[in-house]
Amino acid sequence: MAEVSTLQQAFIRCSALLQQYRDYWQLMPFSCQQLPWHNPALQQRLLSIPEEQLAAIDQSPALQQHHFGDLFAGLDSVANYRHVATAKTPPDSAGMLKPVPFWLTNGIAGRKVAQITAFASQLPQTSLPLLEWCAGKGHLGRLLSWQFERPVTSIEWQQPLCVAGRHLAAQFHIPQRFVHADVLTPQGSAELAAQQQVVALHACGQLHIQLLQQAVAVGCQQLHVVPCCYHLIDSEQYQPLSALGQQHDLALSQHDLKLAVQGQVTAGARTEKLRHTEVQWRLAYQALRAALTGDSNYRPLSSVAKHWFAGDFAHFACWAAAEHQLSLPAKPDWPYYLQRGTTHAALVRRIELVRHLFRRPLELWLVLDRALYLEQQGYQVQLSAFCDYQVTPRNLLLQAVRQPAAVSQHI
Ligand SMILES: C[S@@+](CC[C@H](N)C(=O)[O-])C[C@H]1O[C@@H](n2cnc3c(N)ncnc32)[C@H](O)[C@@H]1O
Repeated sequence: MAEVSTLQQAFIRCSALLQQYRDYWQLMPFSCQQLPWHNPALQQRLLSIPEEQLAAIDQSPALQQHHFGDLFAGLDSVANYRHVATAKTPPDSAGMLKPVPFWLTNGIAGRKVAQITAFASQLPQTSLPLLEWCAGKGHLGRLLSWQFERPVTSIEWQQPLCVAGRHLAAQFHIPQRFVHADVLTPQGSAELAAQQQVVALHACGQLHIQLLQQAVAVGCQQLHVVPCCYHLIDSEQYQPLSALGQQHDLALSQHDLKLAVQGQVTAGARTEKLRHTEVQWRLAYQALRAALTGDSNYRPLSSVAKHWFAGDFAHFACWAAAEHQLSLPAKPDWPYYLQRGTTHAALVRRIELVRHLFRRPLELWLVLDRALYLEQQGYQVQLSAFCDYQVTPRNLLLQAVRQPAAVSQHI
């Protein structure tokens, strides 16, 4: 019988937890008019938490565990990445990195520099050429090229970002080549080669899935990928990549996938306030729409820029009604509907609080599916948190090195 790998064991535990508590996370909170679970202990717990404590609990794994751990057995052991991460061999470069001079990081946001430095410290020593996938201005590639004294190719589809990146590389004499290409096309994949160390920091759903699949096809030597935005995929429903993922498929919609990236770190007070207003207004409009049409089912609206929610509710409601091709009465009772929105938003926040207990397990499930896919394709795979959650909530790093037996098939 084949041996079950550490990653497989972690995935099976994660799947079991998500299956067991499926009713608590795989739902649409905006569609609920009351708490959707018949669970008196949970109900009592939720109603006893004062409104002003909700945000702090939502953002702290320790507080989540403190308030709800006893009601969801097994959550702690899966939600904490340390229990699923593979035993990590310290990279040969650990402790040997040159301190990055300030001039090289000019114009890069502080948190991005911290992410890049942490990322660099996880890379093994190698002489392979570097390829940076979905590079933006190529900050990661530029700093890695400087740090490891190796040339880098950076692929990016926004021409202005390529231009800005080329300019920065020239300014600092970094051997960085920009390729202006869409990574989802053969032109993008054509940059992949077997003898390469490929890096990707915060490449969205389909973009990093494409990388994994094309890199496997080409037989890339090393992959170091920090995934993000799992919901930005081509299909309505997530298609697991690994055999085990397909066996334990959770039938994840794009809405479900969004849960994995709902961790918000240190949003400023203004952003936080706008987010609350957005939820209140969307729900207030929903109440108005239900009153006008008799249809109480939630009907989604497009995303809009956050500044809308610093304006006027009536203005937003008119835009929303136009999107739904709905005529509004001459003088809707705006204060009444805003009050309905406030009440509904308080309920939604409590449902989200419970749902968010499962965002890290879901993210781990998704990253483990990618890890297992690579393992299945002959890579030795490591999964770890490469930096603190406060530096970026998308802090899971997938590292894969092609094993010699698999390499020989690609020669
Ligand atoms: C979240 S940003 C990450 C940028 C950079 N790696 C970083 O960490 O700062 C994702 C980048 O992918 C680029 N991108 C999006 N779709 C792409 C595509 N189809 N082909 C190439 N690049 C793409 C975007 O323009 C953006 O610069």
